[in-house]
Order: sequence, then structure tokens, then C-alpha cells
Amino acid sequence: MQHITASAPGKCILFGEHAVVYGHPAVAVAIDQRIKVKIELTDSNSHDWKLDGLIFDPKRHPHIEALKQRLWPSSLGAPALSIHIEGEIPTASGLGSSAALSVAASAALRAARGRWLNGDVNSPENWAEGFSSKISDTNVHSNNQPKDSLREGKLGDRVKFISGSQSVDVDECALLAHAVEAIAQRGRASPMDSSACSHGDIVVLSDCVEDGIEWQYSRTLTTPEGDREWQIHTVKPPANDVYLVIGNTGIHAPTSKQVEKVAEMLKNNPDRVKEIETIGLIAKRGIKSLLSGDYESVGRAMSENQLMLQSIGVSSPELEDLIRAASPSSLGAKLTGAGGGGCMVALTRDPKATSEAIELAGGRTIISSFGAKGLELETATETPLWSIS
Ligand code: PMV
Repeated sequence: MQHITASAPGKCILFGEHAVVYGHPAVAVAIDQRIKVKIELTDSNSHDWKLDGLIFDPKRHPHIEALKQRLWPSSLGAPALSIHIEGEIPTASGLGSSAALSVAASAALRAARGRWLNGDVNSPENWAEGFSSKISDTNVHSNNQPKDSLREGKLGDRVKFISGSQSVDVDECALLAHAVEAIAQRGRASPMDSSACSHGDIVVLSDCVEDGIEWQYSRTLTTPEGDREWQIHTVKPPANDVYLVIGNTGIHAPTSKQVEKVAEMLKNNPDRVKEIETIGLIAKRGIKSLLSGDYESVGRAMSENQLMLQSIGVSSPELEDLIRAASPSSLGAKLTGAGGGGCMVALTRDPKATSEAIELAGGRTIISSFGAKGLELETATETPLWSIS
């Protein structure tokens, strides 16, 4: 049967998790481990979606449900789909598995649907449908998507239909993935995971446009605590002999709970915003070191960042055991992601020694290069599985 597959990488956070939710700078690095999503039409006439052979349960998969509403609405006549997910990124472990899934699923759904354009130039300003940071009239965060998802007043102007790989846009996938992460994290999500899993390489989020690196776009989000804005940049991984060794505690820790815990702490103790600001300052220093290729300083900033993560209560004894074990053979080590369990990451020039030390302390390890390729559409056909007629 005709099918479409897309894959996206996971990520590790070098600096700034949690503080980035409040608009502070942060850095994420895409890792070699990926998630692959395959979609095809269901082989029955049923309206039920399937996920890995079972009836799709929207409550268990809020990210996919939110994407379905935006890209594949049954109200517009979109047929039921069967989705298969496979990958090497452990879930709920701080490695961006849900963002990687959302990014890959966005790309697969777009490739399966294609895109109507209002003009003959393939630029977002001429799209009759879709989401982009360059189009202001799409509210990607609203669950009430318009009944007719073609841009209003432009129906008659539709001049071109593009499908398959031509219709996939990295910015659109990152934007959609951020929106659905925000829904799953009860309104509090930075665009860090969604951008890193879309663009790959190294992603730098800042409160301003940084000099000397490639600025991609701004992202905004209204969170329960106020409006946030981030400037997203990408950096190519430098030719260097550094690796990431990830140590998994095996303890699942959902991001939304950890993010809520920090929000609660700040509500009860507004003074503790200083710790969040300190993480932002460490991240700023870490970004400078990274851009100048000073990996010894990058490692030191990571370890300092860990002390602050401990202080705000998102580390755990299991994470700290693995971090302690990794430290002698690495440039720096810290938890990655939301914490409370999940994974730690060490920056090292000796991945074998670091990995062995973490394993001896009881962690399962993954070794990754420092930066990996982003979203990839692996299989697509030019005939869409469905499109707006
Ligand atoms: O645990 P992960 O991989 O979803 O990373 C979460 C990072 C946070 O900063 C805690 C949340 C966010 O939205 O940036």
C-alpha cells in the first residue's frame, strides 16, 4: 500500500532547560537517535485511526490528536489513517521523543496531503493552506481550526498544487510541533525541542537575535504566567572530537509534571526567580564558549548549570549518581530535559571511558555525535493520500 515515512532526531540540552520556558537562553543539540513515523490509509472502511495496529486513543497520544485536528481533519473529509512509530529514543526521558514524533508526524501528514498555493512561487506568503512563522493569519495554537482550512478569499486563486517532498516545510513542522507540545505541557513549552528536532545540528534559543549565527525565526507563546518570546538560531556542529554520552536512569518523568513543579515553586516563592535567571546567565556564557569552540568552558558551564538544576529541585539521586560517575572522564555533565529521572548527558572526548563509568554506576548509555541531521522525509509519493478538492 502507498505509504509515507518521515524521521526526526532526538535532542540533548546543553544548557537552559526550565529557564527557557520563562524566555531565557538555552542550547539543544540534535542526537544520532531518531524516531520514524510511517502513515498509510487504513485497509478497512472504518473511521477509526490505527496506531501500531491498535485503535488510536487520542487521550494517550495528545500530540498526534492535536496534529490530526490541524492537518488531517475528518470534518473536511480526511480519511482514517494507520500510523506506525518506531525509534531509538526512549520516551519520557528528556531526549525530546515527543517533539521528534510530532515533527516527523507533521512532515508525513503534510507530504500525504500536499499543499495548495495561491501563487506560483513556493513561498509561505503564497500558501493557500498551512502554518508558517512568515504568515500571521494562522493560529496554530487554536484547537478550533477553520472548517475550510484554505486561506479565506483565496479559493479562486488556487493556481498550483504541490505534493510529496515539495510540500514539506521544516519551519511548518517546527511550528506545529511547538504548538502541540504546548498543549501537552498545559500551556508551558519552549520551542527548544521542536526546533532542535526539526532543524537538527545545534539550536540556540535566546532573548535577542545573536550576532554571528544564523537566525531562523521568532516564536511566541502565551503561557499561564504571561507572554513569552524566543529568537531561534541554528549552528552547524564544528569539526571537533567531542561526543555526547547519555546515561538513562530508566525512571520515567513526564515533562509536564516537572515544568509544573517549577511553576509552583516560583508561585510560592517569587524570589527564586533568581535561580532561573542564573541558569539564563550560565547559558549565555555557555553559548559564547560554544561559538568560540572552547569545549572545556562549555563543559564547565554544563556542570554549573547542573548545580542550579539541583537547586530548583528537578534533579534526582539517580541522576546525580550517573553525573558523578561521568565527571572524571568528561568535560562536563548534567541532567538533560525536564529531570526528576530520565537522562543525564556528558560532554566528552573519551566516549568509551565515560560510557563505561556510567554503566558501572547503573545507567544505560547511548553515544551520539555532537549534532545530527534534522527532519528527513524518507519515503513519499507524488499522489497525495488525501487533499482538499
Ligand atoms: O524533557 P524534555 O525532553 O521534553 O525537555 C523539556 C525541556 C524543558 O525546558 C523542561 C521544557 C521546555 O518546554 O523547554
